[in-house]
Amino acid sequence: MRTQVAIIGGGPSGLLLSQLLMRAGIDTVVLERQSRDYVLARIRAGVLEQGCVDLLRKAGVGARMDREGHSHDGTNLSTAHGMFRVNFKERCGQSVMVYGQTEVTQDLYQAQDALGARIVHQVANVELHDVTGDHPFVTYDKDGQTHRIDCDYIAGCDGFHGVSRPTIPDTVRQDFERVYPFGWLGVLSRTAPAAEELVYANHPRGFALASMRNAHLSRYYIQVPLSDRVEQWSDQAFWDELRRRLPAEVADPMETGPAIEKSIAPLRSFVSEPMQWGRLFLVGDAAHIVPPTGAKGLNLAASDVHYLHEALRAAVLDGDRAALGQYGPRALTRVWAAMRFSWWMTTLMHRFPDQTEFDQKIQEAELHQLEWMVSAQETMARNYVGLPY
Ligand code: APR
Ligand code: PHB
Repeated sequence: MRTQVAIIGGGPSGLLLSQLLMRAGIDTVVLERQSRDYVLARIRAGVLEQGCVDLLRKAGVGARMDREGHSHDGTNLSTAHGMFRVNFKERCGQSVMVYGQTEVTQDLYQAQDALGARIVHQVANVELHDVTGDHPFVTYDKDGQTHRIDCDYIAGCDGFHGVSRPTIPDTVRQDFERVYPFGWLGVLSRTAPAAEELVYANHPRGFALASMRNAHLSRYYIQVPLSDRVEQWSDQAFWDELRRRLPAEVADPMETGPAIEKSIAPLRSFVSEPMQWGRLFLVGDAAHIVPPTGAKGLNLAASDVHYLHEALRAAVLDGDRAALGQYGPRALTRVWAAMRFSWWMTTLMHRFPDQTEFDQKIQEAELHQLEWMVSAQETMARNYVGLPY
């Protein structure tokens, strides 16, 4: 088989890149190790930056998002002294779109089907070859046979545990990482959201977040020790703890119900440089991981896709490879800005096991500034809605 761009990974990064490239007349093949149903069953974040919204519309997958998504002009933060709102619209003139990643992935699959995309599911043993030469190729196993795809470029969209990043030698790569000493226990429930906008809570017992997918589907998180196992959390125990951490005006009227999804995720900040090596380009979680506090995971994948698809169009359609050479540095500038913001939100809103009383006072002072200082709110708003591409 031959293609112009071989895409490893059929998550949001891989599907969105394939969609944009195919619409530009560039041939792609997507290799995904899981089944389509497995990919669609993943429960992930649900806040889209304006840049991501615009890119989805440009890719022709914005119609359902525009119908069913909800625009949020601000968010709420609660502390021991009460709850306050940061008005994005007022502070930076933009909003965010609340629309689940699961729905984005569903829309991308539907659009890719309409274009007759070549997406090969349940592949195994994907290997990248000659990525520093002019004729790279990919091999993979399926149905007991080994297959080969000759290509011009390879996009590594295969997430944190994929094969693309390790293809870049340790002697070339530099990884940057911070692992946080807690996780997030997340619950999805068929209940009405506890508030009209998101509520991020900094409570002495730990962080909590009240989010949503739509008027009948809510998403909640509480900070838990890394030693916790999801089996030890009954639904009732979760609701009781969430109620303790959310402000009374949100917690008291909150509708509870059975968890239709419950899981614990660790939090880390991770960046691998460079994001390209020869004709291999890393995209999304394959290159970087953010703690979910700033809702940047999917949004960073989108900006990577934006930069790479533009550079590949220039190289493949116009023979101009200058932008390809700048993909990594250009993407990393925005990655590090979002990495800083996600670290800042995480440090601001969580209780760290080893934090001192001085640390606590500094956290309270930072929250106080955010509550009362317009410039502090402007900085948060600009980062939360997404810095320009
Ligand atoms: N071969 C083929 N596919 C692979 C391989 C492999 N060796 N390893 C991983 N994959 C697939 C995974 O099954 C997954 O579907 O690559 C895809 C990677 O998707 P994501 O992990 O979702 O990463 P990305 O597409 O960059 O999207 C980032 O998704 O995970 C969230 O928090 C993340 O919101 C962010 C967004
Ligand atoms: C979510 O709705 O899953 C969500 C929203 C905002 C975050 C993290 C997760 O910061």
